[in-house]
Amino acid sequence: MSLSVVILAAGKGTRMRSSLPKVLHPIADKPMVSHVIDAARHLNAENIYVVYGFGGDVLKAVVTGDDLTFVEQKEQLGTGHAVDMASPYLKDDENVLVLYGDVPLTKVSTLESLIEVKPDQGMSLLTVHLSNPTGYGRIVRENQTVVGIVEQKDANEEQLKINECNTGILLANGKDLKRWLGNLSNENAQGEYYLTDIIAACHHEGKEITTAHPETEIEVEGANNRVQLAALERAFQLRNAEALMIAGASLRDPNRIDIRGKMMIGQEVQIDINCIFEGEVVLAHGVTIGANCILKDCSIGENTVIKPNTIIEGAVIGDNCSAGPFARIRPDSVMNENSHIGNFVEMKKTTLGSGSKSGHLTYLGNTTVGNNVNIGAGTITCNYDGVNKSHTTIDDNAFIGSNSSLVAPVFIGSGATVGAGSVIAKDVEVDELAVARGKQRNIAGWKKPTKK
Ligand code: UD1
Ligand code: CA
Repeated sequence: MSLSVVILAAGKGTRMRSSLPKVLHPIADKPMVSHVIDAARHLNAENIYVVYGFGGDVLKAVVTGDDLTFVEQKEQLGTGHAVDMASPYLKDDENVLVLYGDVPLTKVSTLESLIEVKPDQGMSLLTVHLSNPTGYGRIVRENQTVVGIVEQKDANEEQLKINECNTGILLANGKDLKRWLGNLSNENAQGEYYLTDIIAACHHEGKEITTAHPETEIEVEGANNRVQLAALERAFQLRNAEALMIAGASLRDPNRIDIRGKMMIGQEVQIDINCIFEGEVVLAHGVTIGANCILKDCSIGENTVIKPNTIIEGAVIGDNCSAGPFARIRPDSVMNENSHIGNFVEMKKTTLGSGSKSGHLTYLGNTTVGNNVNIGAGTITCNYDGVNKSHTTIDDNAFIGSNSSLVAPVFIGSGATVGAGSVIAKDVEVDELAVARGKQRNIAGWKKPTKK
């Protein structure tokens, strides 16, 4: 049977104290509701209905996809009313799964188990046993069989002792669901249309209610404030860290890593503490990442060492390279195999050929460096005249003396040498030595100034 998913996202989220709709608050840089949508997509949901209340325009701008239908719930009259907003769209002969935009960490495998246990005639519920069930709807059973859910505020003393709780996540077929929602009343302690009342309705029709359970509680926890949001973030990151370790990476401390995107890794990868990985990052076999590195949308080749405090974005680093400590590699840069950049070296739109080195205090922008080039400490490519960016080319085996300025556009031929402290504004041909600096004068008998 095909599947549609209804995601409730109409709550205002007052306790976030934010102008951003609650479900847009991020876990790992991605809105909570997008995590939920991703889960729905993994289940091959045909249609995904997002029930929104506040901030619909912002929501629609941020969360997009052909499979999404946004349904407005103008007034928040309860969870049952919220799901009912999607009723006009739901087909009789499909399964409908209800998820929550502020419950981002539910595993796809858990939802699959919920789908698995659904009876042909009846519905399935995701429930969880909690040591402190306060605030949750309680699962009422008679002879093991689920007969209803009672909300905290409507429960009697006996029912309050039940610690099997409603996660809110449930699955029913479209035809049943629409009928049950149509018959809801709001005569209860909160004056709301409770989604949970459909459980008793199902039971009264003599239909079966089965249950499935998450592996861990965090899977069904929501974020109502920023404290809970931070707790979900940590749980999510620990899950990421565990996945990396299972895939063959050694993490010095799985509690001190942040993955805000996708990572692909080879084996024997080592990652020290406090690293942040964003976008798509590929670490090949044997890569070592030092402490406090930030890597975004980049790939690092085999056995390459990224030393502490290095920042890399939008770059391709080859095999057997090293970068850092304190290096910065900016977008559209390439380091070919066996190349090296060291402390306080910045690269932007620059290719470093294989075996080339730039060890210290250097800026290389809009530059093509050939193979086996040595770039001395303090070299600057002057690529900007205030209006235009210009290119510098340094051919194979060239040697750039320390503290040189290469004023682009400029070309340094293969095997050429630039004397230290030069300002090079004209091309240097193959194997030439260029020296462009003030002449040194040594003054004999010089008297040091004295204090007056
Ligand atoms: C609900 C369940 C409760 C369950 C708990 C789990 C009901 C009646 N109760 O209680 O059994 O244990 O979740 O967390 O369903 N929402 C809308 N529109 C509305 C009302 C709510 O979109 O009109 C959304 C909220 O934004 C939220 C979710 O539905 O994401 C749950 O609503 P909430 O009011 O938090 O329900 P609870 O009282 O916690
Ligand atoms: Ca809640």
